[in-house]
Amino acid sequence: MSQRRPRGAAAPRVPGPEGLPRLLAAPCATHAEHLTRYGALPALRGRSERAGLIAEVEASGLRGRGGGAFPTGRKLRAVADGGRSPVVVANGAEGEPASHKDSMLMRRSPHLVIDGAIVAARAVGAETIHFVVDRADTPARDVLARAMASRAAEMARPEAWRLVELPSRYVAGEESALVNFVNGNEARPVTVPPRPYERGVRGRPTLVQNVETLADIALIARYGATWFGTVGTNDEPGSVLTTVLGAVGRPGVYEFASGSSFETVLGAAGGSLATTGAVLVGGYFGSWLTPADASALALAHGVLRRGGATLGCGVVVALPPESCGVAETTRIARYLSSESAGQCGPCVHGLDAVAGALEALAAGHAAVGTLADLDRWLGDVAGRGACHLPDAAVGFVRSARRVFAADFDHHERHGACVHAQRPPVLPLPDPATRDWSFR
Ligand SMILES: Cc1cc2nc3c(=O)[nH]c(=O)nc-3n(C[C@H](O)[C@H](O)[C@H](O)COP(=O)(O)O)c2cc1C
Ligand code: SF4
Repeated sequence: MSQRRPRGAAAPRVPGPEGLPRLLAAPCATHAEHLTRYGALPALRGRSERAGLIAEVEASGLRGRGGGAFPTGRKLRAVADGGRSPVVVANGAEGEPASHKDSMLMRRSPHLVIDGAIVAARAVGAETIHFVVDRADTPARDVLARAMASRAAEMARPEAWRLVELPSRYVAGEESALVNFVNGNEARPVTVPPRPYERGVRGRPTLVQNVETLADIALIARYGATWFGTVGTNDEPGSVLTTVLGAVGRPGVYEFASGSSFETVLGAAGGSLATTGAVLVGGYFGSWLTPADASALALAHGVLRRGGATLGCGVVVALPPESCGVAETTRIARYLSSESAGQCGPCVHGLDAVAGALEALAAGHAAVGTLADLDRWLGDVAGRGACHLPDAAVGFVRSARRVFAADFDHHERHGACVHAQRPPVLPLPDPATRDWSFR
């Protein structure tokens, strides 16, 4: 249990709920019901109460749940110190096709997300909030819009918050792309710095925070850092919303204590490491792991980092033993290549070459030397884009080269394996309805 409490941190106002779920409790039908369950949101009147909230979030050890795991308190402080009428952006884009946790959270607990955005705005001194959702996610958009309408009186000006519908592109949820779009431009990433927290929406310091992170802030504001640490590990307190897919009986979104084992994660969804061929952790920006690797790691950013993997946005996919890791990796590599925002040469051409080599290998007509070309091209692409898309794609493919090394060799030497034609496991957007626009 975390016991950190800095000087200046606000004392918890009411005892918080015990155990889990915290974020995915049964939905409240109205805002009044939400208040009955969670209590009032702190008003944060005056400088010391605002500073107290930031100190409390810092003390909580909360890290961003959008994929980068950046310490949230540090970002709040940077925006608060940036002056010049900051802006808050709630990131519910969820561009990762295998992730459903943000959508589920916005549909199940919209008032927690709104609470988090309001209290974060109060803490950093922002008067404007943009709630961003994927424009294809109409259920989440509608629930959030209704919840916002029921709370219009909480904002000083009705135009002070708005719902923004973002193109359904992988890179559109990257924070500089998001800020670009809110500013009326295409949802393409730009080279940073300045980062959005320095200069973002209309040139102002902008706090871009994932919706799950905001929901956690809403709870920390009410119950405090010590309560937050009653679940999770000392290093990474709190819960992690996790999308569990693949060879499990009950695929879906689950809330786990940070630091949970992968056996616990798969077991909750009706699967097991024992019946899994490989585990994909962190989604398509993540890594393949062998079941043995996965059993030695846990659902926590730092542990996974030390194991050469990443928690990303909390996706865990169990690949059935009879599936072809080469074919699965190839489909995702082609998808990531097609999601390039078309601005950086190594990303556009390098990822296309990587996907092409993988396609030849997966189909079983790769020339001898294709694997060597593939490994060289991966080295050429790494670290060469304005955003992390190419790095992430390289990390994903390199992890496949490690975990499915024998399969790759088989595909190059003997052609496609008998499993390559099996139905795909990793989800991708429907090509018939796929969004190709950045506007
Ligand atoms: C290519 C790319 C796509 C991203 N897509 C999302 C997304 O869909 N949702 C999200 O919350 N963060 C996404 N991120 C991370 C955001 O840039 C940003 O770090 C995050 O919203 C910050 O919130 P957090 O600190 O609460 O995680 C993406 C990052 C990259 C590099
Ligand atoms: S690295 Fe790729 S996706 Fe990222 S900004 Fe450059 S072209 Fe766009």
